[in-house]
Amino acid sequence: MINFNVPPFTGNEMKYIKECVENQKICGDGAYTKKCNAWMEEKFGAKKCLLTTSCTHATEMTALLAGIKEGDEVIMPSYTFVSTADAFVLRGAKVVFVDIRPDTMNIDETKIEAAITEKTKAIVPVHYAGVACEMDTILDIAKRHNLLVIEDAAQGVMAKYKGKALGTIGDFGCYSFHETKNYSMGEGGALLIRDDKYIEDAEIIREKGTDRSKFFRGQVDKYTWVSAGSSYLPSDMNAAYLYAQLEMADEINKARLEIWDTYYKGLKPLADAGKIELPVIPEGCTHNAHMFYIKAKDITERTALISFLKENEILSVFHYIPLHTSPAGKKLGRFSGEDVYTTKESERLTRLPLYYGLTKEQNLYIIDKIKEFYK
Ligand SMILES: Cc1ncc(COP(=O)(O)O)c(C=O)c1O
Repeated sequence: MINFNVPPFTGNEMKYIKECVENQKICGDGAYTKKCNAWMEEKFGAKKCLLTTSCTHATEMTALLAGIKEGDEVIMPSYTFVSTADAFVLRGAKVVFVDIRPDTMNIDETKIEAAITEKTKAIVPVHYAGVACEMDTILDIAKRHNLLVIEDAAQGVMAKYKGKALGTIGDFGCYSFHETKNYSMGEGGALLIRDDKYIEDAEIIREKGTDRSKFFRGQVDKYTWVSAGSSYLPSDMNAAYLYAQLEMADEINKARLEIWDTYYKGLKPLADAGKIELPVIPEGCTHNAHMFYIKAKDITERTALISFLKENEILSVFHYIPLHTSPAGKKLGRFSGEDVYTTKESERLTRLPLYYGLTKEQNLYIIDKIKEFYK
């Protein structure tokens, strides 16, 4: 069976974890957490990077930093993972969903402005499949309406928009290092901060509302409870696992892009014949091969395709059920404008296996089987 996903493993993970254990340094903010933070700040040009327990938690931190409260509104696509919305509804905000563009499956930047009300506090672009949203337009809208931009870059680690790393463009960026992501620590994430003014508060929120980070840097002689916070820092053992992968990030990225390109070239004849649609990478976007998807004619064809692939030992999956159609989404959000593409396009999409370690043989076999299905 060809799995849909296999968590990345590069070789040094166990060595680094063993080091943490042997040094009896397994709690948060240890040497490996610091190495990961510094690596991302350097590689991505981020002002500040804080490793977190998940992307969900990094996003929750942004909601706290933004002071989101009951009655506020936050704009995002409906075609996203639940965490994008959860982080804000936990603070009492209403989620305002905007339709997606059919080419990238990202929020349609031309429909954002119509969704803004006097209650709007933030726009949350989700860089689906590691392909950037149209950030220049989004930043311009945010500036004109005095809104924060919080990038859900869960899938966007190592991807760029006009040369800038995803996650570093808006006020905040949120990464995921879940086992399904390009670089992993099992469960984990990171918060990227653009402006200095949020750094101290972010450190406090992440450390249970205390100034413990300052204490460890010798800036205060004891630490105390200074505001509301939570526990958003991962164990250094998890950071050790991640660091082994960050050291190999360019190699992992290259290997993933090769698989992506093989899919693209192999399936192009089917797209040219009008049988399927392939992902679109707009000018100015450097993607990270987080995902390879194809779009079938409709949901019936997609269901048949997934079954056919399964019969042939290939696991492919679909997602997301648009949030505005879910029980929580109906209660906690509203759709602005018309759902032209969100539901229709989500029902056509199938994700193919793509992970570090998928062999060329498997890659070609999957392409062959898709061609056979469409014969
Ligand atoms: C777009 C998006 N946002 C948020 C998340 C949540 O990430 P995590 O599992 O690290 O909390 C995911 C994870 O799948 C995601 O794909």
